[in-house]
Amino acid sequence: MAGCPTRPAAEVHIGWTAPYGVGRTLRVMETCTRCGQENAAGARFCNACGNQLGATETREERKIVTVLFVDLAGFTARADHLDPEDVRAILTPYYARLRSEIEAFGGTVEKFIGDAVVGVFGAPVAHGDDPERGVRAALNVRAAIAEMNASDQTLDLQVRIAVNTGEAIVSLGARPELGEGMVAGDVINTASRLQTVAPTNGIMVGEATYRATRSMVDYREVDPMTVKGKTEPVRGWLAVAATAGPGERSVATVPMVGRVREMSILQGIFQGVVTEQRPHLMTVFGEAGVGKSRLASEFTNQIEGSGARILRGRSLPYGSKTLHGPFTQQVKQLAGIFASDDVVSARDKLRTAIEPLQVGGGAEQLASHLALFIGLGHEDEVADRQVLFFAARQFVELVAQDQPTVYLFEDIHWADTGTFELLEVLASRIRHSPAMLLALARPDLLLAHPGWGGGLSAYSALSLEALGVEESRELAAGLLRSDTTGDAARRVAATAEGNPLFIEELAASVTDIPTAAGQPLPTTIRELVSARIDALPANQRRLLLAAAVVGRVFWTGALTRVEGNVAVLSDLLDSLEAHDLIRREASSWIEGEEQFSFKHVLIREVAYATSPRAIRKEGHAAVAEFLEAATSGAGATATALAAHWREAGDDERALEYLLKAADDAGRGCAKDEAADLYRDALELIPQDDVEQRNRVSRLRTLALVAASHVADARSLQRSPESPDEGERGPV
Ligand SMILES: Nc1ncnc2c1ncn2[C@@H]1O[C@H](COP(=O)(O)OP(=O)(O)OP(=O)(O)O)[C@@H](O)[C@H]1O
Ligand SMILES: [Mg+2]
Repeated sequence: MAGCPTRPAAEVHIGWTAPYGVGRTLRVMETCTRCGQENAAGARFCNACGNQLGATETREERKIVTVLFVDLAGFTARADHLDPEDVRAILTPYYARLRSEIEAFGGTVEKFIGDAVVGVFGAPVAHGDDPERGVRAALNVRAAIAEMNASDQTLDLQVRIAVNTGEAIVSLGARPELGEGMVAGDVINTASRLQTVAPTNGIMVGEATYRATRSMVDYREVDPMTVKGKTEPVRGWLAVAATAGPGERSVATVPMVGRVREMSILQGIFQGVVTEQRPHLMTVFGEAGVGKSRLASEFTNQIEGSGARILRGRSLPYGSKTLHGPFTQQVKQLAGIFASDDVVSARDKLRTAIEPLQVGGGAEQLASHLALFIGLGHEDEVADRQVLFFAARQFVELVAQDQPTVYLFEDIHWADTGTFELLEVLASRIRHSPAMLLALARPDLLLAHPGWGGGLSAYSALSLEALGVEESRELAAGLLRSDTTGDAARRVAATAEGNPLFIEELAASVTDIPTAAGQPLPTTIRELVSARIDALPANQRRLLLAAAVVGRVFWTGALTRVEGNVAVLSDLLDSLEAHDLIRREASSWIEGEEQFSFKHVLIREVAYATSPRAIRKEGHAAVAEFLEAATSGAGATATALAAHWREAGDDERALEYLLKAADDAGRGCAKDEAADLYRDALELIPQDDVEQRNRVSRLRTLALVAASHVADARSLQRSPESPDEGERGPV
């Protein structure tokens, strides 16, 4: 039943809630929009009209989440000797600090268990890098505790921390701020167990977290541990420190493949910038992991070698966002200012860097405006927006006039408004200066800023596509040097769909567990694809998940149960196509039905894995009914129908279609396939139905014999002069 819709309730910060949840934002009222009655927080039904309140979603989904578990070590014993008010005085700021550290990385405080705090990353929405966020939050929590202890000698808090990543069932409508559990699964229990074996003030991470973050965090492996509730020893790693900044990837180990055309476009533009002394803004668009940063780094390395200057800046996905982030980093790079420099020496360095550039005086003033612009201002200085933007523009011009310069703005899909404004000002106003502004962005940028680049005369965009099949194989082979047969490289290339990051991750998982057949998708890939799916508006997302149940190929008719209005359905599919997740196909296998396919099999796989089993089951039954109504149920459709009925839990109907598909295949001389289908059918026939088992076994044997004859006939056809050559199957 749909709930009674509520208006957003009033929010207040309260000083105290169990257990020690200071600073928690609680909804104190649920206002029923039907009758206007105000109800107590957490009330599920309206006091006045009895309708369901808080029409939150009750749907559940399967998601990869990262759990951060922080427990106070030895505090229970200490609390025994303390007055309850003293305990509260210690724990209140502690909980508040942990909450703020977790939330700074986009995490949610899931619950408090005793003295322990559980934070969750990746639910309800995946960010694409949640294991990294979890570990960075853990490192910050440890630093925060040390800082709190240093500022109050009596505090002496010690913690044990664990981070673990895995699949969980997530209640999308849960309100953790009201104590409702959002995440359930072994991933939490294991996190709690890992925490118990972590050393005091240590951060123990589980295997999936380690694999997803090992390129940006320094780890020390510990011996496999026996923990309560686990039969097998559990592997663990201690996080030492982060080795790369947020959003950065470690340096590549294999040479860049392909991208010849893209490199020459960038070089051509830079050449024009230098010869015509005319600035240019170039945006390189591409999905996560497709190689934007790599392309930019190869390009900038090359031109740096021939005398250009490169100033690098990056927008961050979370954490402390500095004023005009990437530009600030570029200015600081030029002036040699480090994070450890105090404001006075930073300003000095800035002035020293600008003086030689500014001929004819004015360096002092420019340096002081620029300092203000990048957040190094004195308290008494007042910012005039136009003046400051002008200073930034002057700086960019002067630096480039001194030496042709590429200003690299990485990840502008995360940029603050100030950075966008600045880029547009720079691109439209700089004159007579060889400055190339190179921005890298994921396509989401255009959702938030559809007009990006519009109206600028010297602007171009380059869309970075996936690598081709040959290039993918080359990259995979380069990463999998021990794979002498090339089989693993081919498999990796086929799965990764041309995304170099996915190729790297899949190759790493092959290297880690070389023998595992049908390996699960590496967490990093599932995370990144999930983040794309989670960024969709709810109705598009729901449709995509339903389409995944149909298969890599799907038809509008199979989705009308999700969206009954055909015009709306068509619009939603259009939007999904615009998001580059699905493709409308030119022809359809089913008469009168529009046919679509998922752009990547990985998108389908992740979308499918998101729905809980019960929902998938219902979906498969609905798809089977659709296919029964829309097709004759013969040939390939029979196989599809068998698969859908099987997933829907109706073995009887699945068997019926499997036998039909096998008979059809046999008649069509696809004897191998027929034999496989009879084998599948046998799996579904109950052991006590001896008669049918015997009949199907016989049919399978006949198909196998026929298959070997077909193979023989083929080999004879292939080499009529040398009948002894070629493989012979058993006759
Ligand atoms: N053409 C290529 N040849 C070899 N390796 C590549 C190529 N392109 C990218 N890579 C590697 O793939 C990984 C992902 O690439 P990169 O970090 O450049 O992606 P990105 O598009 O910048 O992703 P994001 O949007 O997450 O920043 C890197 O390790 C990179 O070195
Ligand atoms: Mg990048």
